[in-house]
Amino acid sequence: MLNPEIERRKTFAIISHPDAGKTTLTEKFLLFGGAINTAGAVKRNKANQSNTSDFMEIERQRGISVATSVMGFEYADKRINILDTPGHKDFAEDTYRTLSAVDSVILVVDCVKGVEEQTEKLMSVCRMRNTPVIIFINKMDREGKEPFDLLDEIEEKLNISLCPQSWPIGQGHTFKGVYSIYHKQLNLFHSDKSKVTDSVVKVSNLNDSALLDYLQEKEISNLKDEAELANGVYGDLDASLYREGLLAPVFFGSAINNFGIKELLDTFIEIAPSPKHREAEERDVLVDEKNFSGFVFKIHANLDPKHRDRIAFLRICSGKFERNKFYYHTRQDKKMKFANPMDFMANEKSLVEEAWPGDVVGLYDSGNFKIGDTLTEGEKLHFKGIPSFSPAIFKEVENMDPMRTKQLEKGIEQLTDEGVAQLFVMQPGNRKVIGAVGELQFEVINFRLEHEYGAKCRFRTLTYSRSRWVTCDDKKKLDEFVKRKQAHIGTDKEGNPVYLSDNDFMLDMTKRDYPDMEFYATSEFKK
Ligand code: G4P
Repeated sequence: MLNPEIERRKTFAIISHPDAGKTTLTEKFLLFGGAINTAGAVKRNKANQSNTSDFMEIERQRGISVATSVMGFEYADKRINILDTPGHKDFAEDTYRTLSAVDSVILVVDCVKGVEEQTEKLMSVCRMRNTPVIIFINKMDREGKEPFDLLDEIEEKLNISLCPQSWPIGQGHTFKGVYSIYHKQLNLFHSDKSKVTDSVVKVSNLNDSALLDYLQEKEISNLKDEAELANGVYGDLDASLYREGLLAPVFFGSAINNFGIKELLDTFIEIAPSPKHREAEERDVLVDEKNFSGFVFKIHANLDPKHRDRIAFLRICSGKFERNKFYYHTRQDKKMKFANPMDFMANEKSLVEEAWPGDVVGLYDSGNFKIGDTLTEGEKLHFKGIPSFSPAIFKEVENMDPMRTKQLEKGIEQLTDEGVAQLFVMQPGNRKVIGAVGELQFEVINFRLEHEYGAKCRFRTLTYSRSRWVTCDDKKKLDEFVKRKQAHIGTDKEGNPVYLSDNDFMLDMTKRDYPDMEFYATSEFKK
């Protein structure tokens, strides 16, 4: 039996392709939890998700998103921690890292658009870690795809078995509500965007005559047919399969209208996993171990250039975190204590005295932390599951102000520690190459170098478009490969050789020419 403080924690992220309704759903959850009073509070904080670069907007967001990084609240005796993920596709890597710190996710799908590009990418990251996924099909008040078609599409494109837990009554202009298969309740549709209202009709089953007071006969018979068919096709929910990441419960609703949200939240808190053990390179770390451990999955720089302090977000994995206690920083091999660790409740942050596995605390940092760093009570641990992914754009840094070389180097070092982008060093000449997911990161780096470090640089676009971490059991062969392919080899921050290629064709050729080498798409050496 787990410590009740750990058991009652549910730490998750809401993820979606931009515009599917992630922000709206987050806000409705906070309303249900009483964490905010009015709709619109989270919405105002939302980043501009247009694909055109708008880095000033992103800068503005950087300030705000400290507040929305973690949104904690209490609901039905549970401590819920929602971790925010950026919507902009250029910040995909931030999202991937945040997903390393959650125990489950809710994936929002727009019923008109179905599965979109980002939906597939995010799902593939969840699959890598077997993260349990609940799917929320949103915007049922719109004329979208038919429920069964949507389920087929999701199952096929996301390659996961589904199990609907609610069923829509009508859709678009005929949308009347949802029937909760899980709780055997009928929830009728009240369009009310500002408040959360319950309009629950409890029925013992779909033959209950009480239904006639609310729905027409035709609607009841359609609902019966469809719910029966859905049950026949998808069966009953096996919650353990969900918690293993093999089966996704599905809910239908309309976030903007507060519809289907309570069913989702109530079922979520019942079935979603509490914090569980984490794999470290050295061993499996159990949540209820006495000793504290945690890792940094996100770093936020201060917006004020005069104060270069940052906030490191630490996910607690085991034991209990306490303020002002000395902890061991594994990478730096030194002890540190934190006088002002922060706890995040909805939009407010406050000093935290103690925190439990599943919680995220914010630690003021003056440059000690890198993404993936571990704190413990003395043991050397390195948590797995926070890899770097192959960037898509590579540019060489050209110093524009030789008098400020030191500042430039420090800036590049710190910004890449923060995870804004990846740094590779190429020979000859120790050339610095930045790899990023999108163009936006380069604008952010340029802007921040100038404003925070007083350094100026230009980026020269290189032809590479993917990177592969290379290993070989035979050190001599690896050295030989690195020498021969020097024009395509960068060294990452940990000193690992990375092969940079222009395209898949070139990569395949190299793989064929060097069969002894292993090529990995992430820094954690998983294929
Ligand atoms: P995101 O965070 O996933 O990007 O999505 P967000 O919640 O911002 O929602 C994107 C748009 O979809 C918003 O409209 C939002 O109001 C709308 N929306 C969310 N849920 C529903 C729903 O259940 N039904 C319908 N019909 N629309 C929904 P917008 O015009 O971009 O913004 P706003 O002017 O409404 O704020």
